[in-house]
Formats: sequence, structure tokens, C-alpha cells
Amino acid sequence: MRILIIGSGGREHAFAWALARSPQRPHLFVAPGNPGTAALGTNVPIPVTDLAALKAFALEQAIDLTVVGPEQPLVQGLVDAFQDAGLAVIGPTQAAARLEGSKAFAKAFMERHGIPTAAHRTFGAAQYDEAVAYLERRGAPIVVKASGLAAGKGAIVCATLPEARAALDEVLRDRAFGEAGDEVVIEDFMEGEEASVFALADGDRYVLLAPAQDHKRIGEGDTGPNTGGMGAYAPAPIVTGRLLNRVCREIIEPTLAGMQAEGHPYRGFLYAGLMITADGPRVVEFNCRLGDPEAQVVLPLLETDLVEVFRLMSAGRLHEVALRMRPGAAACVVLASEGYPGSYRRGVPIEGLDAAGARPDVVVFQAGTRREDGRVVTAGGRVLGVTGLGDDLGQALDRAYEAVAKIHFDGMQYRRDIGRKGLARLQTESR
Ligand code: GLY
Repeated sequence: MRILIIGSGGREHAFAWALARSPQRPHLFVAPGNPGTAALGTNVPIPVTDLAALKAFALEQAIDLTVVGPEQPLVQGLVDAFQDAGLAVIGPTQAAARLEGSKAFAKAFMERHGIPTAAHRTFGAAQYDEAVAYLERRGAPIVVKASGLAAGKGAIVCATLPEARAALDEVLRDRAFGEAGDEVVIEDFMEGEEASVFALADGDRYVLLAPAQDHKRIGEGDTGPNTGGMGAYAPAPIVTGRLLNRVCREIIEPTLAGMQAEGHPYRGFLYAGLMITADGPRVVEFNCRLGDPEAQVVLPLLETDLVEVFRLMSAGRLHEVALRMRPGAAACVVLASEGYPGSYRRGVPIEGLDAAGARPDVVVFQAGTRREDGRVVTAGGRVLGVTGLGDDLGQALDRAYEAVAKIHFDGMQYRRDIGRKGLARLQTESR
């Protein structure tokens, strides 16, 4: 089987790693990939946004199945283009990907279908004064979001009204997020702990991966600016079996039914970013793909052959799939460049990759890396994701951090508190 993975981050390395373990021994292509994926397949130098070149490549190379990692090509309509050409692809169509591509669409959709989320209003550039009046009526804390794709930076949590006014100006007047800020969504702040639930859906049926928790802020204790994610662990103890049933009943199933009813059946990974509030789970956002770095923990926990899962799904036979998870837990610590999520240096040599990944229960996923003169060097903000597997969360974290200690690059920064909330919850429960 010839499989094309689209993307170049840690999530796509995790896809390649999981697919490469299949007894079906697929031939993997990754566009554009990174040095980590090059060790598992063939990297193809096509950017993720060049849909025409990706389609031409898939046709020329007789690709049997394409898996899309990032949101941008999905929101641009890659799935529609591939399907029109008769190519099998895992991911939602452009219309279905609006669940991530337009927060205004997603919020209105949730309202139409009674899916629990924070109260909100959407405003366009011509409605600035109304937006200010709404902010003043609702008060702080409040959340101001650019409606379109903003590389994870478009949601601004505002503790005070002056901060909220500044955020509104940034999005709607100063156009800090470009056309992603054509509309602004203002929503009530939700108190609670976040969790990520992932479904793989074929329109109406779905299977679930392990629920995870991300660490979005750069600093320990959830301080400092937002990032793409500084670490993750799964399964997240906050998502008990009972809560997961509720998420399925109140969120996943009504979302799939609603998309079906509106004529856009949802196929692909559906990522529900949740706030677990005192009143139950609420949707913070939907994403139309797997999370990064969550993929680096949920895919290593998957025992079922991922090639077979994708094959059955694209044949319309998801009902034959039962996902088996490895017992225990996985934890991923992201190693980032100095300065990230602001500006950072590239081309810094990375040492210790082989030593760190030598144990069978550790995987070093590459993200912002490139090969230069035979060495792997930094090439992005989030450079590596070091995943440890263990019998429980504590052991998974110990293994991840032991491996992190073997890696070095100048300016390397990482959080030392990944998984702490999960450990605290497990300790409370065992008392
Ligand atoms: N880790 C957050 C995301 O993938 O959007």
C-alpha cells in the first residue's frame, strides 16, 4: 500500500511512525516531511498548501491513500480536490472543515444543534461599536477570538475590559491576524480544566482515540503566551469513562448528526477541544485534524494496525473497526527553540537524538528540524517531541524526561511540569 502523509511536524512524524509499524509494510511518502519522517519513508518537497502539486504527485505515484496532518490544506479544500480525482483521502471536505476554519461557523453550528459551549456573539469589521458594547455588557474575564485560522494564536483570554478592548482592536482594526480577523467571536470565559477528545468519523459512525491533555502555555504552571502545545499526555485522568460517555452523547454524536443533517457529513479526525467545567464538558473549539503534540501520545498508545483502520474507513467499513489501546500511559515533552513562541534562531545543531531514542519505550518525534551537512539542526519553534510510554502516567513521564536529559541544543527550552495535573488527579483518586 502506498500512503502519502501531508505535513512536516511532530504529528506527521507520529503518523509515519504508527503506519510504519503495520505488518502491511506500507510504502510511505511524506510531503514535505522532516528528517524523522525521512527515516521511515520518502520525503517529497511539496508544500502542504500546494494542492495542485500534491494531487499531481498522488496521481503520478498511484498513491492508495492520503492522510492529512495540518488544518490549512483541509480548509483550502484538499479533500475535495483529491476526491474529485478519485483519490482516497482521510480528512473532512472543505465545507466540513469549517468547524475549524471558521469559529463563527462553529459557534453558530453548536448553537443550532444544542452542543454545549460558551455563550457568544460574532461581529464583522463594520460592527466594531456593537462589539465594544457587547464586551462592556458581558464584562471580564472574556475571550476574544479571530474567527479564521491563526496558527493557534487567534484566541485571546482577557482578564480585564481594557485587555478585551485591546484584543478587539488587534483583531478587528489592526488586522493582526489578516483575513482570519474579518470576523471576531467574543465568548464567555469558561472556568475549568482543558481536555482533548479525538474521534475518527466516517460521516455518522465513529471510533475514539485515547483522550489527552495538552499544555498550551510556554511557561510552567500554565503561564506566559500560548504556543502550539508544549507537551501532552494520554489517557487524561480527568476524562473518566462517565465523562467520555457524556462527551459522546452531548458533543460528538450531535456534531456528526448535525453535519450530516446540514449536508456535510464529517469524515476524518474530529478533535473536540473541551473545557471540563463544574457543569460538565463544554466545547472550546473544534479542530478538523489530530492535535499536535497530542498525536505524539495517542498514536503510540494505539495497538490496532493504523493502516488497516484507514483502509477500512476509506472503504466505508468503519463499523468493522474496534480500536485497541495499549494499557498504561504516554507522555510527550516538547523541546522548543529559545525565544519560541516569539522569534527564534534556526540551524542550531541537535545532539543526543540516538541516545534519547534508544529505549523501546521512548520515541523522539521530530518537528522543526532539518538536515544540514549530515547533522540534524533546528528549523522551527517546536523542535522535538519526546514521548515516553509506561505502565502508568508517572512511569511514562519519567521515561520521557530521562530521554530529554540526553538531548541538547543551544537555547533548548521545555516545561518541567508536563502531566502534573494528571498525576495530582490520580493521587487524589487513590486516597
Ligand atoms: N495542540 C493543539 C492543537 O493541535 O491545536
